[in-house]
Amino acid sequence: TTETANLMRTLKEGGAEVALCASNPLSTQDDTAAALVHHYGISTFAIKGEDHETYYRHIHQALDIRPTLTMDDGADTVGLIHNDRRDLMETIIGGTEETTTGVIRLRAMANEGVLGYPIVAVNDALTKHLFDNRYGTGQSTLDGILRCTNMLLSGRVVVVAGYGWCGRGVASRARGMGARVVVTEIDPTKAIEAVMDGFEVMPMEGAGSVRG
Ligand SMILES: NC(=O)c1ccc[n+]([C@@H]2O[C@H](COP(=O)([O-])OP(=O)(O)OC[C@H]3O[C@@H](n4cnc5c(N)ncnc54)[C@H](O)[C@@H]3O)[C@@H](O)[C@H]2O)c1
Repeated sequence: TTETANLMRTLKEGGAEVALCASNPLSTQDDTAAALVHHYGISTFAIKGEDHETYYRHIHQALDIRPTLTMDDGADTVGLIHNDRRDLMETIIGGTEETTTGVIRLRAMANEGVLGYPIVAVNDALTKHLFDNRYGTGQSTLDGILRCTNMLLSGRVVVVAGYGWCGRGVASRARGMGARVVVTEIDPTKAIEAVMDGFEVMPMEGAGSVRG
């Protein structure tokens, strides 16, 4: 994506040798990937919509740079290093992981004692989840739905599954655009928070049949 491209440019300007692959084949922007190669000489292995096999081949190709540091978004690369490219761990001194899901995966590995090198949990930083998850994903989720469906949100029922950082952001923005927002949540404290924030809260079984 363009955001990742700017990170790559910054790392290169700082003197790093970098290689990039996708963390999600559906979010790759092919023109951005091509520009990184063509204008900045940054090795980029990603094609929008690439199949499972190509996705993993590209991760392998990016890893052929033999990194000192890994910067992951979802823990697929770190998972592949641990499963198939353990030789790379000799020279890797550490890494970062961006996402909620990735941090959950890596924390489970750390708890089992199988995480092979230290990784900074970026998602745990206040400056990540308070802002990126809540405001960034809160906005971009609705932006994606609107671009795909061209629907008017006002008067619609929007069910938000989970009142975590992303869920809070999605719920408040959907309400701001006139939707009737129903929240489902398994954590009782967060469920109360959603009630106190003025949302309807109910189990998913019931939420699916709420009509606007
Ligand atoms: N695409 C993006 O840009 C982006 C950015 C950040 C996070 N994410 C993803 O969004 C998801 C949520 O991230 P987050 O930071 O909000 O996590 P979070 O842990 O803050 O919130 C998740 C919430 O879901 C609740 N939950 C779990 N199982 C549930 C169930 N069965 N029914 C109802 N609620 C349930 C949990 O109790 C929790 O409150 C993760 O998968 C994360 O990786 C995507």
